[in-house]
Amino acid sequence: MNTAPKLVNRLVSGDIVYEFYEAGKRSFVKTRLLPLKTPQAVEKLKGFGFPEKYLLPIEQKRIKRTVTVNGSEVEIESYQIAKKWAKEKFPMSLLLLGSVGTGKTQAVVVAACHLLRVRKISSAKFYSAMELRTAFDRGELQQEIKEADLLVIDDLGREYKSDYNAYIVETVITTRYDLQKPVCITANLTFEDIARRYTPRVLDRLKEWAYRKVVKQNFSLRGIL
Ligand SMILES: Nc1ncnc2c1ncn2[C@@H]1O[C@H](COP(=O)(O)OP(=O)(O)OP(=O)(O)O)[C@@H](O)[C@H]1O
Ligand SMILES: [Mg+2]
Repeated sequence: MNTAPKLVNRLVSGDIVYEFYEAGKRSFVKTRLLPLKTPQAVEKLKGFGFPEKYLLPIEQKRIKRTVTVNGSEVEIESYQIAKKWAKEKFPMSLLLLGSVGTGKTQAVVVAACHLLRVRKISSAKFYSAMELRTAFDRGELQQEIKEADLLVIDDLGREYKSDYNAYIVETVITTRYDLQKPVCITANLTFEDIARRYTPRVLDRLKEWAYRKVVKQNFSLRGIL
């Protein structure tokens, strides 16, 4: 008869937790890493190219779930979407679309910080779409898209419109898709814009393997927070 394992002891050494179990005559140990502290996670994200502008509110505990508009409290949609993605949908990719100033970049930086803290990822890389070409020409992007546990492409569509840049975006998406490694994309584009701007291969892959959300919020958070 199988006996349910019973936790008999728990030891913490550094950031490792050792849990000792007994199940009938059998005993075994499980090890796991404790969550990172927020300042440690923020420091790591700085090294992964995440912008200080979006790390500062996390460091200073200024991230909000709601905002007051015309006297009433409304939820910040981007924040809610990214939180749901990180907690329930990851390691699926994320495609977060919405108009200017709706909190998309901030939300994905908060989500990356959460994923790092709870040890769902140990590496990440942040690129604004405008930086992709330089990174590609240096050969750096090709390496990062293969290695990073999470790749963020912020503001897709802000890159100069050219066949070469579209080819780079396609390379990023198809490589991550083939490796089944998550990519997190923010954009002011619509699905139709993405279909028009890149080859059908891009949207087709994102449809299958990304949590896709359009923020409906019709005001910018800039200047009102
Ligand atoms: N949940 C939040 N808590 C606190 N500040 C926030 C939050 N969401 C966004 N902000 C702040 O609001 C401003 C706009 O947010 P953000 O830059 O993320 O918007 P965006 O949707 O990415 O805009 P754009 O489309 O122009 O790139 C930033 O200064 C950001 O730090
Ligand atoms: Mg942005």
